[in-house]
Amino acid sequence: MKLGDIKNITVLGSGIMGHGIAQSFLMGGYKVMLFDISDAILATAKAHVKKNLELFFKSGLIPETDIEASLQRLSTTTDLEKAVSGADFIIEAAPEDINLKQDLFEKIESFAKENAIIASNTSSLTLQAIGERVKNKSRLVVTHWFNPPHIVPTVEVVKNEDTSDETVAVAYELMEKIKKSPVKINWEIPGFIVNRIQIAMVREVLNLYQKGVASAADIDRAVKGSMGFRLASIGPLLTIDLGGVKLWRSVCANLLPNIESGTEVPAALENLVAEGHDGIKSGKGFYDYTNDFSKEDLDKAIEQRDQEFLNRLKNLYFEK
Ligand SMILES: NC(=O)c1ccc[n+]([C@@H]2O[C@H](COP(=O)([O-])OP(=O)(O)OC[C@H]3O[C@@H](n4cnc5c(N)ncnc54)[C@H](O)[C@@H]3O)[C@@H](O)[C@H]2O)c1
Repeated sequence: MKLGDIKNITVLGSGIMGHGIAQSFLMGGYKVMLFDISDAILATAKAHVKKNLELFFKSGLIPETDIEASLQRLSTTTDLEKAVSGADFIIEAAPEDINLKQDLFEKIESFAKENAIIASNTSSLTLQAIGERVKNKSRLVVTHWFNPPHIVPTVEVVKNEDTSDETVAVAYELMEKIKKSPVKINWEIPGFIVNRIQIAMVREVLNLYQKGVASAADIDRAVKGSMGFRLASIGPLLTIDLGGVKLWRSVCANLLPNIESGTEVPAALENLVAEGHDGIKSGKGFYDYTNDFSKEDLDKAIEQRDQEFLNRLKNLYFEK
């Protein structure tokens, strides 16, 4: 299989991730078949794709004619055989349940073309486990996208010892072709790259919050306007080089003994969960949604966040 042989893409699961992944392939010019377990779920997914294509147009990321053209290339089905049999690249974004994914992968292999590539969007399962009952494991690969997948550029392309070089190369080139920013992960380490780094940061954030070193709002403000501001444009290793390797060596030596290194779930999270809180879903997390924000403020903040994401996407990735 070469990049040029890929004509038809199938996305299995049309939830939070699946419909956005489908949109990215549509904007890349591909024909996409979206599979889910009910027509009602697929209708909702299609409506989300339409709305998000319109948002891309309004933000100047795609021409208006691409909205209808993309929707014309999108088909949906609840028949797995129909979904998979004509596909050259299949990506699974079904629930994170090992039994479900193992069953699904076995069925995919029985229906798919012999040379089709089969990717999973799993965040925490291994390819080895998901593909246990798959005979030809050389065509399995993880492509790990980030929410919202139609906007966030990075996709981690993860191989294990069975994945062929050709499979990885095609998956990587395909992500580049649809204007994603793929990253090659050479072995299946839990959490791949990004979630490991994110959790390391969150552990220290929660430690500072728990100790009362600063308020939730001030911690968020500090990170957003410093590391966050910088990281959208330059990565952490280039940041070290620009600041000076010797300086960073000294800072590591001085600070690392003071940084949280526990392996338990941080108390700040455990306490909130024990008190029955679940962030925005329950009305209280690190912020109190009945006091700190009105519903209108919050809706406005989310709308503004999405607009900022799209502006950043346009400036940093689409117009490079
Ligand atoms: N949500 C995230 O932020 C995120 C980020 C990266 C990766 N992931 C991974 O992506 C995958 C999907 O996550 P999500 O958040 O989109 O979940 P979701 O629950 O929003 O969507 C899953 C979809 O799969 C459908 N489904 C149920 N059974 C199915 C089956 N047998 N075959 C195909 N589809 C089926 C469901 O109806 C649903 O529409 C998971 O593996 C998850 O770990 C999620």
